[in-house]
Amino acid sequence: PVEERIDLLMAQMSLAEKVGQTHQVANIDPEADAAEIASGRISSSLYASGPTGGNERDEGVLVGNIDAAQRHAVAGSRLGIPLLFGRDVIHGHRTVAPIPLGIAASFDPDIAEEIGEIAAREAVVDGVAWTFAPMVDLSEEPRWGRVAESLGETPVLAGRLAAGLVRGFQGDDVGDPDRLAACAKHFAGYGLSAGGRDYDTVSVGENTLRNLHLRPFKWAVDAGVMTVMAAFNDVDGTPMHAHEHLLREVLKGEWGFDGMVVADWNGIGQLVNAGVAADLRGAAALAIRAGVDLDMCGGAYLAHLEELVESGEVDLALVDDAVRRVLRLKFRLGLFERPYAARPGASNAPTPESRATALRAAQAAHVLVKNDGVLPLDASPAAGSLLVSGAFVDDGDALLGTWVLDGRGEEVVTPEAALRERLGDRVTVADGRFSDVTLMQARAADTSVLLLGEHRSRSGEAQSVVDIGLPPGQIEVLRAVAALGKPLVAVVFTGRPLDLSEVLDLADAVLVVWHPGTEAGNALASVLLGEVEPSGRLPMTFPLSTGHIPTSTHQRPTGRLIRADVDHKEGRYIDALTYPRLPFGLGLSYTTVDYGAPSVSAPTMPTDGSVTLTVTVTNTGERPCREVVQLYFRDPVAEVTRPLVELTDWALVDLEPGQAREVTFDVQAGQTAYAGRDLTTRVDEGEIVLLTGPDAARLQSVSITVRNDS
Ligand code: IFM
Repeated sequence: PVEERIDLLMAQMSLAEKVGQTHQVANIDPEADAAEIASGRISSSLYASGPTGGNERDEGVLVGNIDAAQRHAVAGSRLGIPLLFGRDVIHGHRTVAPIPLGIAASFDPDIAEEIGEIAAREAVVDGVAWTFAPMVDLSEEPRWGRVAESLGETPVLAGRLAAGLVRGFQGDDVGDPDRLAACAKHFAGYGLSAGGRDYDTVSVGENTLRNLHLRPFKWAVDAGVMTVMAAFNDVDGTPMHAHEHLLREVLKGEWGFDGMVVADWNGIGQLVNAGVAADLRGAAALAIRAGVDLDMCGGAYLAHLEELVESGEVDLALVDDAVRRVLRLKFRLGLFERPYAARPGASNAPTPESRATALRAAQAAHVLVKNDGVLPLDASPAAGSLLVSGAFVDDGDALLGTWVLDGRGEEVVTPEAALRERLGDRVTVADGRFSDVTLMQARAADTSVLLLGEHRSRSGEAQSVVDIGLPPGQIEVLRAVAALGKPLVAVVFTGRPLDLSEVLDLADAVLVVWHPGTEAGNALASVLLGEVEPSGRLPMTFPLSTGHIPTSTHQRPTGRLIRADVDHKEGRYIDALTYPRLPFGLGLSYTTVDYGAPSVSAPTMPTDGSVTLTVTVTNTGERPCREVVQLYFRDPVAEVTRPLVELTDWALVDLEPGQAREVTFDVQAGQTAYAGRDLTTRVDEGEIVLLTGPDAARLQSVSITVRNDS
């Protein structure tokens, strides 16, 4: 019926009204824009200010403006087509979960789904119907600020977590008034921007795109994501907003994506800056041909599409396809039935339930990367005094992370508040900034916890850095406190992998906690004091230094580099080894876990079949843990170079002290599929090495043979 309703509506639409459906504006002012809306010239908006500028923080103001604008569209326009309001609801709305890189560290798609669901429930109260998340660009470039918004460096992790977020945002039925339409962004290759500089060019071949960077998008599409956003970058000379092959042929054609492709902010207009269009008119023609359906804040379609069709330069069928996709989204969202957003009396302030999810998510994101035994801290009075110092101790806003438009710093539980609640006077909480006083306080304390890292504003869009070292001044404090020779814990708040070499040398324990969100303090205190066990794992490799970038698990073999774990020197740098400082997948717990050798149910696997892999993991320590049992594979002989190891599956396994568990993986031959030289997907016959272990650098292997039995 949706398609029939679209047919009926489109049969009545003038070309001008059709073009109106392809035009998104940044902001709608319901009064100033009333005539524009009523004439059907606006399809969608990212924001709604009132006549006086409207403060979105005042509850009800945003939604009031949205509904006022909506009234002009629904009751005032000829065809009554509702407006669509989108917003960047990335890792929470009012209740903020860890940044996406932290969500990825949980390795837990169920947590991702819960976060998406809560974010949706809160965002709809503010009139939002569509979010620009999840970002699924693979990120192996820590200098790039947007890695904070990514789900890590490897396709299966990013893909599964993206699918979890999509399920959470959209639910089983996106027409449910408590859900949002999701958007997989930025299609494609954005994570490879040259030098980690945001928006920069991308030189990558289609084989690498298909074998790595397109795969998380495919997961999101298979999970039913309703929209996809085009990327700002070019791919090998063709800007993505003009990339007919990848957008129209691959995404919409080969994958059968029937949702809507939205431009990134003025991404169509930027085709002129990129030098592939002489003017906005030419840019509009390129983008509509490529398959960009909705023009975000560029005005190119509104200004030129009508004339381009009338002159015969653009086929009307292309505009019709774009309009159909926009209307399909509006119908599926139920906007024609329920255009208005106001819910009198509804609040989206954090609740005990939403906070509980944010807390679990933040705890699950804590990655313990070193522990000489100082953690967990002894909470008893006998343990002596504790100093906690650093900017993150009392700055709620800094803990929220990038892309938080609606979360409030004052609603964040800070480390100061959480530790005071638990330890009372036994904790000295410094005033937040490191100073000479810090050293005096550390001298007086039995144990110091230094909160290091980057403010939330130092990662995110357009926040690239040339040096992934800690921000100025922090290492000096760390050195001075370490010189006291007392137990020292470093907690690293960050939106990207940092160069932690000296931190790892100087501190007795190091916890990477990303930007943890609304429940930051409770999460940190509970992990430091051992109320919960750390269970996060690194979703990106931490390189030895900035100069070592790029490093990722899926380096491919060269004629010289055959095994990343032993061939550090061969043909690489003459002044340094090249192993990762912290490998992908690393994360310790407060216990020790032993891995047995993996075994398989059969030595051979049909090209359309599967084998069962079994590995026994044993908690050999005295505390419980949640182990992330990881399964990688290597394809030693293929038509193209394949990653040295690639994560293909994992299991979250809870173990009591002394407990052993057999963990089984159903390994499908299809998991070894790859794009060959002709770019079609193939499963090869021959040896496949399966590897299991606690991270990408500590793996034990078993080989199987894939055989075509048919
Ligand atoms: O969603 C974002 C995108 O990721 C970057 N440019 C702006 C969009 C809308 O705010």
